[in-house]
Amino acid sequence: MSNIEQTLSIIKPDAVDRNLSDEIKKIFEKNDLIVKESKKIHITKEEASEFYKVHQSKPFYNDLCAYLSSGPIVVMILEGKNAVLANRKLMGATNPKEAEENTIRRLYGISIDKNSVHGSDSVENAKKEIDFFFNN
Ligand code: CMP
Repeated sequence: MSNIEQTLSIIKPDAVDRNLSDEIKKIFEKNDLIVKESKKIHITKEEASEFYKVHQSKPFYNDLCAYLSSGPIVVMILEGKNAVLANRKLMGATNPKEAEENTIRRLYGISIDKNSVHGSDSVENAKKEIDFFFNN
């Protein structure tokens, strides 16, 4: 049985700034994740704080929210077989230094903060995150 899912992907300011959006989208599409929706936006720090509120107790929360709102981002709905896990495998580990070769974060990430992409970590969170950016 095919398990077609949707997940949310964000191309973060460091990657948008280096014009990597098309390269990153090609990686998804080459790996059978269809970009169903895509928009370039610039969110406020308040919106970033709402989006990342699961991390509000973490020491890096303030910097994280300041960073996501520091410049344009590209938010996308990806669709495909086991899309949540497939996207996480393509992204690689959070810290680009620990990410496997040929993953997006290994190829393009600069640091644990400027790690080029975000992806939902579960089907449940994917629904919430897609709703956050696309159903308002
Ligand atoms: P992301 O997948 O967008 O989810 C939360 C982000 O917090 C993460 O990517 C990192 O960019 C950032 N971050 C900064 N410091 C840390 C840390 N110590 N552990 C995990 N994530 C961190």
